[in-house]
Amino acid sequence: MKIAVLPGDGIGKEVTTEAVKVLRAVLGQDAALELIEAPIGAAGIEAAGDPLPPATTEIARAADAILFGAAGVPGDETIPYAMRPGASLLRLRKELGLFANFRPAFLFPELVGASSLKPEIVEGLDLMILRELTGDIYFGEPRGIHTLPSGEREGYNTMRYSESEIERIAHVAFRTARQRRRKVCSVDKANVLETMQLWREVVTRVSREYPDVELTHLFVDAAAMMLMRAPKQFDVMVTGNIFGDILSDAAAMLTGSIGMLPSASLALDQKGLYEPVHGTAPDIAGRNLANPIASILSMGMMLRYSFNQPGNADRVERAVRKVLADGYRTGDIAQPGCKQVGTSEMGDAVAAAIASGA
Ligand code: NAI
Ligand code: MG
Repeated sequence: MKIAVLPGDGIGKEVTTEAVKVLRAVLGQDAALELIEAPIGAAGIEAAGDPLPPATTEIARAADAILFGAAGVPGDETIPYAMRPGASLLRLRKELGLFANFRPAFLFPELVGASSLKPEIVEGLDLMILRELTGDIYFGEPRGIHTLPSGEREGYNTMRYSESEIERIAHVAFRTARQRRRKVCSVDKANVLETMQLWREVVTRVSREYPDVELTHLFVDAAAMMLMRAPKQFDVMVTGNIFGDILSDAAAMLTGSIGMLPSASLALDQKGLYEPVHGTAPDIAGRNLANPIASILSMGMMLRYSFNQPGNADRVERAVRKVLADGYRTGDIAQPGCKQVGTSEMGDAVAAAIASGA
C-alpha cells in the first residue's frame, strides 16, 4: 500500500498525524505500508516556492491513494491563484482527474444533541452525497463578464455536461448504492435546464444496468427541502458540481461538527484523495485542540474505496464509535460530563480501541 501523505497547513498537520497513527494500529506492524510525505499549501511554498510543488504532484500520482490534511492561510483569497496555498488542492484534483466526490453525512448516536435539527429527524441519519467535480457551470465555456451596447456589464457562465461525464458519475452512484441500501436519488433541475434534462435522461438509461437499485429523481429545490424535513429517506444522492456543492454543505450541518466529517474524491482508476471536510482552522492551530476524527474517518474511507478493505474500514468506524461512547470529546463536540481531550489523546484513544479489538 503506497500512500502519499500531504498534511498541508495549520491543523492539517495535527489531524493527519493522528490518522496515520490509527492506520498503523489497523494494519499492524508487518503490513506492507509505504507512506511518503510531501509538502502542499503554505508548507509547499516554504519548502519549494510553490503551493503545489511538481515533486508533490509526482508523489501523489505514483501513490495508490492520498491522505490530505488541509491547505490555506488567513487572507488566502487575496493571493494570485497560482501562488495561493488554498488553491493547491483544486489544482491537484484536476491533475489527478478526481471527478467523484463522496461526502457522507452520518450521525453518530452519541452526538444526536449536536445537530441543528430535532433528534427524531436526524437519529440514524446515514446518507452519501456524490458530487460530480470536473464539469458543470464551474468549468463550462463561454464564461466571463462583458459590456453590453448600453454600457452596462453582464456576467455569464455556461452549464455543460457531456453524456460520458454523466454516465461515469451515474455508474459510481449505482455501484456505491449496491454497497449500501440500494437507493439512488438523482438531483437535477430538469424542468428548467436542458443540461439537467440530459442529466436525468442519461442517469435513467444507466439505471437499467442496475435493476436491483431503486432510482428516484428530485428537483434540487425539493431536494433541499427534503434534506431538512426528512433526511433519513436518502441513501445515495447523486448530483452535479454546483448543486452538490450546496447540498453537501447543508447535509453536513445535519450532523453537528465539521470536525467529524470525512470525504473522498475518486478518479476512474480508483485512485483517491481522502481529506477532512474542514480547513486549516488558524484560530485553534498548533494547540492540540483540533478534532482528528474527520481525518481518521477519511483514512477509513481510503481503506474502503482505494484498498478494498471493508473489514478494516468498519474497524475504524467502530473504534471511533467506541471512544465516543466512552465519553471522549474534543472541544468542538464537548458535552457536560464528557472526558475532554486534545487532538493527540483522541488519536491515542481510537488507536487503543482498535488494539483492544473494536
Ligand atoms: P475551517 O474549516 O478551517 O474552520 C471553520 C471553524 O471550524 C473554525 O472555527 C475552526 O476552529 C473550526 N474547526 C475546523 N476544523 C475543526 C476541527 N477538526 N476540530 C475542531 N474545530 C474545527 O474553515 P475557515 O476558517 O473558513 O478556513 C480557514 C483556512 O482553511 C482558510 O485559509 C481556507 O482557505 C482553508 N480551507 C481549506 C480547506 C481545504 O484544504 N480542504 C477547506 C476549507 C478551508
Ligand atoms: Mg463548498
